[in-house]
Amino acid sequence: MVGGSMGAAKQTSIHGQWSSKWVFVLAATGSAVGLGNIWKFPYITGENGGGAFVLVYLLCIVAIGLPIMMAEIMLGRHGRQSPINTMRLLAEKAKAHPAWQYLGWMGVLAGFLILSYYSVIAGWALSYVMKSISGAFVAASAADVEDIFSQLTGSPVKLLFWHSLFILMTMAVVARGVRGGLEKAVRFLMPALFAILLVLVGYAMTTGEYFFQGITFLFAPDFSRLTGAGVLIAMGHAFFTLSLGMGAIMVYGSYMPQNASITATSLAIVGADTVVALLAGMAIFPIVFANGLAPGAGPGLIFQTLPVAFGQMPGGIFFASLFFLLLVFAAWTSAISLIEPAVAWLVENHGMSRLRASVWAGLVTWLVGLGTVFSFNLASDWTLFGKTFFDLLDFLTANIMLPLGGLLIAVFCGWVFFAGESVAELATRPWLYSSWRFLLRYISPAAVVVVFLQAIGVLG
Ligand code: PHE
Repeated sequence: MVGGSMGAAKQTSIHGQWSSKWVFVLAATGSAVGLGNIWKFPYITGENGGGAFVLVYLLCIVAIGLPIMMAEIMLGRHGRQSPINTMRLLAEKAKAHPAWQYLGWMGVLAGFLILSYYSVIAGWALSYVMKSISGAFVAASAADVEDIFSQLTGSPVKLLFWHSLFILMTMAVVARGVRGGLEKAVRFLMPALFAILLVLVGYAMTTGEYFFQGITFLFAPDFSRLTGAGVLIAMGHAFFTLSLGMGAIMVYGSYMPQNASITATSLAIVGADTVVALLAGMAIFPIVFANGLAPGAGPGLIFQTLPVAFGQMPGGIFFASLFFLLLVFAAWTSAISLIEPAVAWLVENHGMSRLRASVWAGLVTWLVGLGTVFSFNLASDWTLFGKTFFDLLDFLTANIMLPLGGLLIAVFCGWVFFAGESVAELATRPWLYSSWRFLLRYISPAAVVVVFLQAIGVLG
């Protein structure tokens, strides 16, 4: 395979391929839609003042996220290996510096770090499934629900139990290979999640004036409430929510059939992801205002607000259990993609079986996750720059590692990877191709650099 024209020699993946382009779209949407949309987007929007923050986030999705998603899929499909080996191979073929493979390494590290805390939050959702079924939220007041939440996060033992269970669930799927169960599951559960969000938005509408207050908060930009740090968080979240910058989409792209359109599939994934996040926001803020809760309540926001609404609506037990179950599911399909780059690499380079590779990866993630578990209770006052272990990990990964990874992917794909190759991979209309390439070469990298610089105060 080495040498010769890149176009002539097509790679195949030792891990197999998705059975159709739809499976790729489902799997990538499963990766993108997760806690980021339903848990993180509302709480960071609440902390950063609403509308203006949302506008910056949407701009980042279009101008940075979409072009980089296309680039990541393209590199993955061209390399057909784990991100580490794909970057090594493509750099070799383009006669570029071998250091490009470290981009793959940084992605694997980011995946471990993100999963370590992602799993703890998914654990909250797991525990809420049980609480919903037991009727704990029926007619509960906002204060009752806050109590339930702080009892959960205050208990290291409970958090540890749910965190461990979620890691086990994730590794069980990864060990069998991500292609097996994912297809059937995502096909039904994604639409179900979408439907239940619509139910919640419908419920939010019954709050009348508070619905308008919520919508105004979410969509009317007030730039006086947006800080420089907020801009960085909005951009970081664009990467986080689309699963970009760490190889998750690249590794899924490596299992993508050659005949699928990268442009169309990327648009579908980005569109679905954005709609889910906005629906979540539209459901949550009216409930927040109607119950006199604080939009800036932090990571507990949805866990402290939605149960109040479920507790009041007819069929609340059913809807609450279903909602948290679907949230767990959405988190699950994202978690799988966070660890797949590492597992694919262990299989390729260390000849491990998928089972062994998953056990190792799971063990390491579980251990790092203990830091997050304790940062909500025993070690909640261990802070650095005013951030707990969880806050630090979240900031480091979402706001630094993913944008940096994305920037490097844009530079590699736009400037190093041959133009002829990307024309062939994209196989789209010439004007579309040129617009994509322009965004990828100039706009996305420049935007990431400007946001970084302003965040460290260089541009004031
Ligand atoms: N996109 C996922 C979410 O929104 C999280 C994720 C980030 C998954 C990076 C994979 C890679 O929840």
